[in-house]
Amino acid sequence: MLGPVILAASRSDQMRRFVSAAPGTKQVVDRFIAGETVDQVVPIVVDAADKGLEVTLDVVGEDITTVEQSHAARDAYLELIDRLKDLGLGTKAEMSVKLSMFGQALEGGHELALANVRPVVEAAAAIGTTVTLDAEDHTTLDSMFAIHEELRKDFPQTGCVIQSYLFRTEDDARRLAANGSRVRIVKGAYKEPAEVAYQDKAEIDKAYVRILKILMEGSGYPMIGSHDPRLIAITQELARRAGRKLDEYEFQMLYGIRSDEHLRLAAEGHRMRVYTAYGTDWYGYFMRRLAEKPANLLFFARSVLTK
Ligand code: FDA
Repeated sequence: MLGPVILAASRSDQMRRFVSAAPGTKQVVDRFIAGETVDQVVPIVVDAADKGLEVTLDVVGEDITTVEQSHAARDAYLELIDRLKDLGLGTKAEMSVKLSMFGQALEGGHELALANVRPVVEAAAAIGTTVTLDAEDHTTLDSMFAIHEELRKDFPQTGCVIQSYLFRTEDDARRLAANGSRVRIVKGAYKEPAEVAYQDKAEIDKAYVRILKILMEGSGYPMIGSHDPRLIAITQELARRAGRKLDEYEFQMLYGIRSDEHLRLAAEGHRMRVYTAYGTDWYGYFMRRLAEKPANLLFFARSVLTK
């Protein structure tokens, strides 16, 4: 019940100001956000690599309002990639980007986002890694998939994300599985209306399994973005049935969530990539993490009230 309320609050400027200023917020934010600067996130990438984990790095920020901000987002990723290059970490870290941060919602936003993301994809390829386009709310997805297709002409490793809560996703999965794409499948983290998305958790999970089958049987590279133990076990079984080796798919989980499971799956020989978000504009990302698990909200409330 609380999830949709928190997701609605994630779009409110008033709530943004309240949550950002509340004493105790930082302590809870730190669980999900790896740091504010490149300097703070680099040791986390090194530590993950030492533990046999890979990462995908997200410079947080979305819903920007000016072209200058979209350029700043591009430059933040270019700075990050430069640093990874200097440290020889290119093969351990890929990037995750939200096209809204690259200007997708502004006037002429499709072209602007493409123009901003292309140099990031080029720079990533030059150090031996790649970029995945995150999935945002359903109104942005046609543009995201078109940008994905465009980028793949020169950089076929570019990935994208699909969300099992949307009715459209099985069709998207078939297309992406047939053209050999790298695809992260997740349940979906936005507030979506009943006209376009399943509202019932069991339906979302059943759709996830149908989509997993499509991806495992296809010619692409499935990336399983979930902390759900049932879906992880089902993935392993479907991969076995599809004859996929351990390096022909990967698991992905979020920084700060089920960290023991990251290590367990890596120790079993799986590729495990930790989605690691950092930066100062953490509000939207943080609120989606609260919405996913009501216990997080209680923890947050307690932390604010006891400060
Ligand atoms: P579910 O929500 O059922 O959780 C299973 C279990 O995991 C819970 O019982 C709990 O133990 C733990 N858990 C899950 N979320 C938690 C949280 N916030 N705090 C504490 N414990 C938690 N979405 C999207 O719309 N677009 C995107 O691009 C992405 N990208 C993305 C990348 C990666 C690597 C992951 C793992 C997830 C995303 N998501 C996303 C988010 C995704 O849509 C979804 O909201 C979350 O993964 C939660 O769903 P689960 O599959 O983990 O299952």
